[in-house]
Amino acid sequence: MDPFEVIPTGGALGAEVRGLDLRVELDADIVRALRESFLDHCVLFFRNQLISQEDLVRFTRYFGEPIPHVRPQPDRPIEEIFVISNVTEDGKPIGALGSEEIPFHSDLSYLPAPGTISMLYALEIPDEGGETMWANGYASYEALDHRVKSRIDGLRAVHRHPIDALNTPEPTMHPVVRTHPETGREVIYVSPHLTHHIADLDLKEGQVLLDELIAHATDARFVWKHRWQVGDLVVWDNRCTMHRRTPFDDRHRRVMWRTQIFGAGAR
Ligand code: OGA
Ligand code: MN
Repeated sequence: MDPFEVIPTGGALGAEVRGLDLRVELDADIVRALRESFLDHCVLFFRNQLISQEDLVRFTRYFGEPIPHVRPQPDRPIEEIFVISNVTEDGKPIGALGSEEIPFHSDLSYLPAPGTISMLYALEIPDEGGETMWANGYASYEALDHRVKSRIDGLRAVHRHPIDALNTPEPTMHPVVRTHPETGREVIYVSPHLTHHIADLDLKEGQVLLDELIAHATDARFVWKHRWQVGDLVVWDNRCTMHRRTPFDDRHRRVMWRTQIFGAGAR
């Protein structure tokens, strides 16, 4: 029997894992079972964890190799940790992403090899707002009718970050329907934040289709919202989900540590 419990949220995706203390090393059997649950639920969360940056990096390694800072940030001793925060110290932001809404996206889809697995650990959170929601790309794909499925089959979309300096010189393209490399299941892979246009269609026709697909894929029935508590660690699979953050009052502090994996995740 597994020494931990997996409690599905009852929503569109996600499960809470109870019974593990992430300050300690996990046995290979436990890691294997966790990874299976992760593939089943797309998002796993652990509550009441009191972990260090080293603990977070060790835990991240059970899922793949964390990369040093996704984007430039001040040098810190543990370089795999990226700080997400609206807090400023001495007039300088201590982290990224501020307090605004972040529309639905799959992490780093503007890169040719996007982020696969991401983790966020909550150190400080506002009382209201700053919630993160995830949309299940398997479920939204399955719910498409056959005509739409065959229409989008083989189409590619151009992904682009709104901050142009982050983009690659050549436009980045991904299939509108991607196959998850580990589960073999198909997902809708377009987002309002990072998908710019459909490459293979006339711009206007493509825009209509893109709007329809995004409205469908972010419909409430495919979305689950996480209400953060201090000490939460959330692990998500960008290969089958997208996520969005609601805005919050910038006078309140929100501080998270983040890690990022790019590999296919199979180990
Ligand atoms: C991210 C992200 C959302 C949040 O770190 O990739 O989208 O809730 N963060 O801070
Ligand atoms: Mn993100």
